Amino acid sequence: MAAREDIVLGIDLGTSNICVAIYRNGTFETIADGNGHKITPSYVAFNDDGRAFGKQAKKECFANPKNTLHSLKRIIGKRMNDPEVTENAARWPFRVVDFEGQAAVQITENDMVRILTPEDVASMLLRYVKTFAEEYLSVPITQAVLRIINEPTAAALAYGLHRIGSETLMVVDFGGGTLDVSILKITDGQSFQVLTTSGDMRLGGDDFDERILQHFRTEFETTHKVSLKDHAEALSKLRQEAELAKLAIAGGSDKYRVAIPYLDGRRNFHSGITAVQFNTICEDLFARVAGPVREALLQCEMQPGEISQIVMVGGSSRLPQVEHVLRQIFPDQVIHRDINPDEAIACGAAVFGHTLSANNVNKLAVVEVVPRALGTDVVGGWMATVVQKNAVIPCRESRIFTTSYNNCPTVHFGVYEGDARKVVDNRLLDEMVLTGITRGPAGTPRIEVTFDYDRDGILKVTAMDLDTNSAADGFREDPNKGR
Ligand SMILES: Nc1ncnc2c1ncn2[C@@H]1O[C@H](COP(=O)(O)OP(=O)(O)OP(=O)(O)O)[C@@H](O)[C@H]1O
Ligand SMILES: [Mg+2]
Repeated sequence: MAAREDIVLGIDLGTSNICVAIYRNGTFETIADGNGHKITPSYVAFNDDGRAFGKQAKKECFANPKNTLHSLKRIIGKRMNDPEVTENAARWPFRVVDFEGQAAVQITENDMVRILTPEDVASMLLRYVKTFAEEYLSVPITQAVLRIINEPTAAALAYGLHRIGSETLMVVDFGGGTLDVSILKITDGQSFQVLTTSGDMRLGGDDFDERILQHFRTEFETTHKVSLKDHAEALSKLRQEAELAKLAIAGGSDKYRVAIPYLDGRRNFHSGITAVQFNTICEDLFARVAGPVREALLQCEMQPGEISQIVMVGGSSRLPQVEHVLRQIFPDQVIHRDINPDEAIACGAAVFGHTLSANNVNKLAVVEVVPRALGTDVVGGWMATVVQKNAVIPCRESRIFTTSYNNCPTVHFGVYEGDARKVVDNRLLDEMVLTGITRGPAGTPRIEVTFDYDRDGILKVTAMDLDTNSAADGFREDPNKGR
């Protein structure tokens, strides 16, 4: 993250947008690209005449939907059989394919078919924003110390930078792909401690767009008795209109009108959606916002009255219904919207980068926690938690497991993330196999499984047969199961 000795770059690589900020001389500012845009859509388009990024790629999306990638953060690091991958693949116009068990995408560039992982696409986007950051700074960025920070913590840093008091803050970050809720304690304006994080990884601005899109689609299909299933361009146009409709209604319009000539190549689409219709078709989505907020309070054993301030960030926090839901839970608190919701995270990341540098003049300290419990499965499909939710990062925890039948040479186990008691209700991160276990009656071998969670939120799992002291002896990732 550190660009030069005294300039720190903070990047918020979001599902929908990227924002870049710099920290220098005790404060932060966001950077615009050559066209003056401070928010870059997380889009990459592979056209015959080259690649397009950001706003340009988003604008042209409907002309080349199969080769215009977006929202890939929703599937980053996910396995092909993850329900979220299946759900997104069904609604995206580009192809989602299996790459060694992991979700990837397939595009055509210059007549060549290419498979890209979501990480490849993220790195293309990062390289793109790096070029305009260099132009802005007029210096090439040659060094990068990469550190990842939890988004709500970043928002809290941006909010708290010039404050001096102590307070308990709730940060609600509602973006394009996810809803994140954190409770943080700021002490003397210097120490930022995350007490808990909660969220809905499957709720974001895209979901509202999807509902409106389906509303338009059903109307067109029923009126003309046709299916738009194979009309990727038409669906991309409807998606763009759906987002515009949402923005207009969020901004106070009673109705949004749509007029798309030759939507399916033959028929025009003239329609609209009213604010009342929007509220009805999205009612359940709005209601879901309350879940993670209450869960975060519960985890900290706090009453709503113990939260002193609420900070709302992320583009979807601009939906008036979101504030309405929060207001019902927090009738008396100040709900801050004074830091720019699109830019707060990048700014906070830049401040955070500064705290890591040698000249940390503000003497800020940040303590983060593990967002969800981590563990493995044991007989009966139960979750055996190894790292507790809200453990302070970095952390390293071990647990001893054993075999469940006699002379068992091999154990297979899954690495899961989640707070449910049964692993089926949690998310499978990886599957592991430990071979060469000391033979013996069930329950006698001692297998130590260690979870190492580093500062960037990256988990490493290792296992060791304590009787042979052999870790390398066979502990490996299951080659049949991907990652
Ligand atoms: N005024 C507005 N009213 C309602 N929604 C908005 C408004 N402005 C932006 N949005 C929505 O906010 C979402 C993008 O928000 P943001 O840029 O915070 O997401 P992100 O950081 O890319 O995603 P995430 O944090 O989930 O990875 C989009 O769905 C966009 O349509
Ligand atoms: Mg975000």
